[in-house]
Amino acid sequence: MTPTRLQLQRWQALNSEQREQVLALHISPEQIEFAGTTAQAVSVCEDAPTDEVAGLAILESASPIGFVLLSRVTRLPDWAPAGSAALRAMRIDSREQRKGHGRASLAEVAAWVSEHWASCKTLALCVDDQNLAARRAYEVAGFTEYAEPKVGRIGLVRYLWRSLIEPQPSSDNSGESA
Ligand SMILES: CC(C)(COP(=O)(O)OP(=O)(O)OC[C@H]1O[C@@H](n2cnc3c(N)ncnc32)[C@H](O)[C@@H]1OP(=O)(O)O)[C@@H](O)C(=O)NCCC(=O)NCCS
Repeated sequence: MTPTRLQLQRWQALNSEQREQVLALHISPEQIEFAGTTAQAVSVCEDAPTDEVAGLAILESASPIGFVLLSRVTRLPDWAPAGSAALRAMRIDSREQRKGHGRASLAEVAAWVSEHWASCKTLALCVDDQNLAARRAYEVAGFTEYAEPKVGRIGLVRYLWRSLIEPQPSSDNSGESA
C-alpha cells in the first residue's frame, strides 16, 4: 500500500489545533526511553534560532502524525560530523506506525534539508542498538553506520548517516563536463 504523501511543517507555523495534536502524539513508554517525550522535543525547537534548529511536524492531510527535530552548526550534537544536519527525537504516533510513514518521512526530511539547509550534505543520527524498529526504518531509508558504536545510556549507540547529494546518473559521455 502506498501511504498518502506526507508534508513537513515547522512547529512555529502550525495552528493551535495542530500544536495540540503534536503534543498529543502517543508513543509507548519503551519508545519514550529511546526518543524522549514529544514535549521535550518541542521545547528544544520552541525558542531556538530557526536557522539552526527545526522542529518539524509530520502531517498527513494537515493532521500531525509525527514529529522530528533537526539541528546544525552551533546546535549540532557533538556526535554528528561537522557540516551535517542532525536528526533527533523522531517519532510516528503509535497508531500510525508500521504503515510506511517512518520511511516516507525520512525521505521528506532529506528533501527538506536539501531545500532549506542546502549547505548540509549529510543527514546524521544516532540510534540505540536495542531500538530495532528505528534501526530498520533508518536502514530502509538508506542510512549506514559512519563510526564505531559506543556505549550509551541504555546499551550501545549506533551512529548513522546518509548523503543528501543525489548520485549522478551514469553516462557514456564521460569526457563531457557538467
Ligand atoms: C522508528 C519509527 C519512527 C518508524 O516509523 P514507522 O512508521 O513505524 O516505520 P515504517 O512503517 O516506515 O517502517 C520502516 C521499516 O521498519 C520496520 N519496522 C517498523 N516498526 C518495526 C518494529 N516495531 N519492529 C520491527 N521492524 C519494524 C518496517 O517493517 C519497515 O521495514 P520493511 O520495509 O522491511 O518492512 C517508529 O517506530 C517510532 O516512532 N518509534 C518510536 C520513537 C523512536 O524510537 N524514534 C527513533 C529515535 S532514534
